[in-house]
Amino acid sequence: MARSLHGSVSPVLMFMALILLSVIPSSICRILNENDLKHICLKTSDPYECLDQFKSDNRSRNTDEKGLADIAIDLAMKNANETHAMYNELYSRTSDYGLQEKYMSCSKNYNDAIRDLEEVKYELNNNRTKLIHVEINDALQEVNTCIRAFERDQIDPVKMDTANERSKLLCYMVKFAAESLVQK
Ligand SMILES: *[C@@H]1O[C@H](CO)[C@@H](O)[C@H](O)[C@H]1NC(C)=O
Ligand SMILES: *[C@@H]1O[C@H](CO)[C@@H](O)[C@H](O)[C@H]1NC(C)=O
Ligand SMILES: *[C@@H]1O[C@H](CO)[C@@H](O)[C@H](O)[C@H]1NC(C)=O
Repeated sequence: MARSLHGSVSPVLMFMALILLSVIPSSICRILNENDLKHICLKTSDPYECLDQFKSDNRSRNTDEKGLADIAIDLAMKNANETHAMYNELYSRTSDYGLQEKYMSCSKNYNDAIRDLEEVKYELNNNRTKLIHVEINDALQEVNTCIRAFERDQIDPVKMDTANERSKLLCYMVKFAAESLVQK
């Protein structure tokens, strides 16, 4: 009797164990390793720079996926802040009306991108990860608008390409880090 009871219970236990095993990995906060970072960075246009950026923040050595998304947001915000300040500075230093106009619009683009990133941070803190892609796409659109303003005329005497490209990359890092949260 005991044997047959054992025989009927254990498949149920095994089934439950299987369910638990399939649930646990997605609900615990796993600490990420370098391969996890590479996996996210390989989705970007510049995996090496992406990895360098993540590593520039020493929190990335001991964090889970939510923490990594948070780091990406902080990096993107810091960069957008700096780029915004650079455009304001360039604006104040030129007397070329055409350039002033472009610097002004890029400054506004970055101002709005910073707002979008603040929204992203808010959504992440409130666990509304599914909404992040909307805000981060808005931020990307702002950066791209600024890039395009200069592409049309080729009159960018101060090469801002590097700062703009970095802003774009950092936004994609936020996007892909957040996507890996949503997929869970
Ligand atoms: C991380 O870097 C900051 C400075 O950037 C430093 O204050 C802090 O102690 C470092 N933390 C670790 C765990 O290395
Ligand atoms: C951005 O700059 C403002 C001041 O202009 C500062 O208060 C804020 O902390 C900065 N944010 C980041 C992420 O650097
Ligand atoms: C978000 O989720 C974490 C982990 O599940 C939890 O500790 C935290 O309280 C949540 N925050 C909000 C605002 O719901």
